[in-house]
Amino acid sequence: MAIKRISLNINGVDRYIEFDLEKDSLAAVLRRFGLTSVKVGCGKGVCGSCSVILNDKVIRSCSKKMKDVPEFSKIITLEGIGTPTHLHPLQEAWMQYGAAQCGFCSPGFIVSAYQLLKENPAPSRDEVRQWFHDHRNICRCTGYKPIVDAVMAAAKVMRGEADASSLHYDDKKDNGSIYNTHYPRPTALAKVTGLCDYGDDIKLKMPPDTLQLAMVQPKKYAHAKILGIDYSEAEKMPGVVRVITARDIKGVNDLGIPLQHKHARGNGFDCPVLNTDKIFNFGDVVALVAADTEEHARAAAAAVKVDLEPLPEYLNYLDAVAPDAMQIHPGVPNTFLYQPLYKGDKEPREVIEKSEYSVEGSFYTTREPHLPIEGDVVQAYFDEDGILT
Ligand code: FES
Repeated sequence: MAIKRISLNINGVDRYIEFDLEKDSLAAVLRRFGLTSVKVGCGKGVCGSCSVILNDKVIRSCSKKMKDVPEFSKIITLEGIGTPTHLHPLQEAWMQYGAAQCGFCSPGFIVSAYQLLKENPAPSRDEVRQWFHDHRNICRCTGYKPIVDAVMAAAKVMRGEADASSLHYDDKKDNGSIYNTHYPRPTALAKVTGLCDYGDDIKLKMPPDTLQLAMVQPKKYAHAKILGIDYSEAEKMPGVVRVITARDIKGVNDLGIPLQHKHARGNGFDCPVLNTDKIFNFGDVVALVAADTEEHARAAAAAVKVDLEPLPEYLNYLDAVAPDAMQIHPGVPNTFLYQPLYKGDKEPREVIEKSEYSVEGSFYTTREPHLPIEGDVVQAYFDEDGILT
């Protein structure tokens, strides 16, 4: 590893930075500095949660290699824009307009909006949207309207066209009511100042000898039989402490929750923590590697050999419910839950039959999951009472 040292101006202060010339991104270095408002979501520069201002340009710091950051650059992160006792109008507006819901995207958005208002103090709503689009700021929660509302309100205050108090929640005006008001959510202050800890931030605060886990996910098939898992090589790799398979789970190897639904055809207990016999989904986990560093854990996870026998893959609903489709979870129909549609007090069939016109067809759409910005991160430890926490 080759280490380089340069001087950067971070949030107005000149600092010396040491970094790994080959590997470090700007985001990694800023987070090491304790500036954890810089969130790493996708790690590929597409979600904008790591946005910072580098020499007056909004950039995505997770994909910015440190070796490409010029010495004496000026960097602004959310910590340099406002603090809990000295909030910037954007931060106040973010709280007031409910623009921080889970809040993971908020630091990146606020930093991005800060530079927008520097360049264009009176943007239209369309220009605000276009700016976030161009700078790839993505939000999984808000639907963007509250974010644009917040930028417009803050800009008005910054131009002197509205009083700063317009960004404060006034409980007298709302008669102490919360519903349908701008009452800020209790966690909003921590979220808009970058002080709210998410999974990856808590990781930085764990004791230094905390083991790191990496998952073994044989990403080859969406449906397959597991014939064997060979981790003999992985166990000998540097830093590896243990490879964990389903055999090591002392309790119930199941993530499922009981599916108490009158139209359910499964019981919900068909989702193993670590798969033993079958791969049910692309990306299922068959083992975990515990090692001293994340890098060692990931390298060893990649060295675990999983012998698989492919089974028919049903990559859409219609294939999965074809009469000759095999059951993915043995004993559970592939349509494990159905949801009839009732409208009015009559059975839909009756309504359709009596209608003057009716159209029948088979319609298919993809599943639209919650956009994953934040990485799934978990820490676990035995607490002072011996309880796994
Ligand atoms: Fe934007 Fe949750 S508030 S990602």
